[in-house]
Amino acid sequence: MISGILPDEVCGAEAFGDTVDGVLFPEEQRAVTGVFPERLRAFTTARMCARRALAGIGVPTAPIPPGAFGAPVWPPGVVGSITHCTGYRAAAVALRARVLSVGIDAEPDAPLPADARAAVVRPEERVRLSALSRVPAGPSWDRVLFSAKESVYKAWFPLTGYPLDFGEASLTIDPHCGTFATRLLVTGPVGRQAAARVGALSFHGNWLAADGLVLTAVVCRPG
Ligand SMILES: CC(C)(COP(=O)(O)OP(=O)(O)OC[C@H]1O[C@@H](n2cnc3c(N)ncnc32)[C@H](O)[C@@H]1OP(=O)(O)O)[C@@H](O)C(=O)NCCC(=O)NCCS
Repeated sequence: MISGILPDEVCGAEAFGDTVDGVLFPEEQRAVTGVFPERLRAFTTARMCARRALAGIGVPTAPIPPGAFGAPVWPPGVVGSITHCTGYRAAAVALRARVLSVGIDAEPDAPLPADARAAVVRPEERVRLSALSRVPAGPSWDRVLFSAKESVYKAWFPLTGYPLDFGEASLTIDPHCGTFATRLLVTGPVGRQAAARVGALSFHGNWLAADGLVLTAVVCRPG
């Protein structure tokens, strides 16, 4: 599924169940010492996906430990992203020479709980979601929006090292083309500095809904 929303220069790998024989590097193992079994399974299977994706771009197996603020640390010259939700794990990677940043996210295709919706959706996005609700047989559009914002964040953070609030991005989803566009609305001097650094970059992305899942991806290329 994930390959369906990634361009050719980004290699994706996914799993719909957990690997029983996944082996972690010591630095990865240290990051999940004492965590709940579900977290360990998700972390490990996602690493197996990441190593398969790395092989797809010709990069040998390497550790991918969590780094600052949870962002995965990729081998030199590689950018990438990881996601996991119930029944699904995936990774996407690319050579930095071709792609500046990648963000992927997977979610169950179900409406957001009311409190999450209130925290994630901006007023103008609420109007857009209302229009989307008239599209026949569509996915849970608020979940697509949420997932797209998570993908934007995962692509944004490695470029800027700066947090991005749900209210600091305004998304427009194209229901027919499987795409979305992002307008960044960061304020304050530090935020504006970060935004300036990525100002020339496009945070456009792709979405896909199938088999009870919503997947989104953002790929930033050199401007
Ligand atoms: C970090 C976050 C995006 C993870 O998303 P999630 O839906 O909870 O979980 P997912 O399984 O899809 O993704 C988890 C993976 O995200 C990656 N991740 C975590 N923090 C990250 C960061 N700061 N930058 C990039 N990737 C990050 C990790 O690889 C992690 O997997 P791992 O711990 O096995 O390495 C989310 O928890 C979060 O903090 N969101 C708030 C910020 C945000 O999304 N703002 C929206 C701005 S428009």
